[in-house]
Amino acid sequence: MKIKGDRKVGQNAGKEVYILAIETSCDETAASVVKNGREVLSNIIISQIDLHAGYGGVVPEIASRKHIEKINQVTEEALSQAGMTLRDMTAVAVTYGPGLVGPLLVGTSFAKAASFAAGKPLVGVHHISGHISANYIEYPDLEPPFVCLVASGGHSHLVAVKDYGDYEIMGRTRDDAAGEAFDKVARAIGLGYPGGPKIDRLAREGNPEAIFFPRAKVAQNEYDFSFSGLKSAVLNYLNACQMKGEEISKADVAASFQKAVVDVLVEHSLRGAEAYGYGKFAIAGGVASNSSLREAFAAACEEKKIRFYHPSPVYCTDNAAMIGAAAYYEYLKGVRHGLDLNAVPNLKLGAAEGGSHF
Ligand code: KG4
Ligand code: ZN
Repeated sequence: MKIKGDRKVGQNAGKEVYILAIETSCDETAASVVKNGREVLSNIIISQIDLHAGYGGVVPEIASRKHIEKINQVTEEALSQAGMTLRDMTAVAVTYGPGLVGPLLVGTSFAKAASFAAGKPLVGVHHISGHISANYIEYPDLEPPFVCLVASGGHSHLVAVKDYGDYEIMGRTRDDAAGEAFDKVARAIGLGYPGGPKIDRLAREGNPEAIFFPRAKVAQNEYDFSFSGLKSAVLNYLNACQMKGEEISKADVAASFQKAVVDVLVEHSLRGAEAYGYGKFAIAGGVASNSSLREAFAAACEEKKIRFYHPSPVYCTDNAAMIGAAAYYEYLKGVRHGLDLNAVPNLKLGAAEGGSHF
């Protein structure tokens, strides 16, 4: 049950708000203390990447167990690095979806227990709202409205951020997320998991024009994305080379594939950013740490005279500080969750608070 208070943003003005935020939606166990939504006092992340690498992807059961083992430790470290205790917190925030149900349950159960034990309000946060809010941490002067591309392992959304926590989804992927395509192509050329950073590195040694891979357009919505055709084109290319006995340049494949993803993300996003006319464009999510993507967006935004916002890589991949930033604005709006807050693996990114859901 979401308990929506009648408190208005202005009523909290002047008071410091300290939020303990928890994030466990995938394979990072993370806790952070964030002051007034923008100042990160601590940001502790234990990544499970090495544990899952041998399986070629995240194994939900292993992830859940690891979260249980580590959640106390990351929370204690987050509080102690901030020089604070749970009693000093104004509220406890947690990602309650979307994500893997087992990992989400660990975070939500832990946050509910902490909120109940310390008598602090509980604020549930949408994971994508968190990714978008990472930009508030890096840019203290950034305020909505702006357009944001969220590209991660599970999501590729183009979002109009109309106000804090008020989102309109302009476009989304019809099939694979951008990060998923990076991971699958990396596996196909033998780079291992997670593929994004490995393709990013290898692509620097390759020629992005060496192989032409398709850039998909979606007829029904000019802002939608589709990456499964691109992934198949890479696999077909690899098979064809193998059958002909031709040597494959992995660096050229990585660079050409990456260029195809970047071209589509930049073209669709900039078209959207121009159409909405906010003059501000941000990126978020794991794929937003891709060096070629950042360079391409920087150049395109400069050309179109749009201000470009891009969080540092540590705030692009999953972390709890971004959850604390998003929670702050929900908290100010009076949003509180009860102890019946549940993990919602397919949680939709809502429009306004209490508004329609997608
Ligand atoms: O946001 P995130 O940490 O987790 C999800 O919410 O999914 O994103 C992880 C995804 C993975 O697919 C990973 O391969 C991709 O982000 N990624 C990258 C880079 N760093 C991480 N993709 C391309 N280039 C990178 N440098
Ligand atoms: Zn994420």
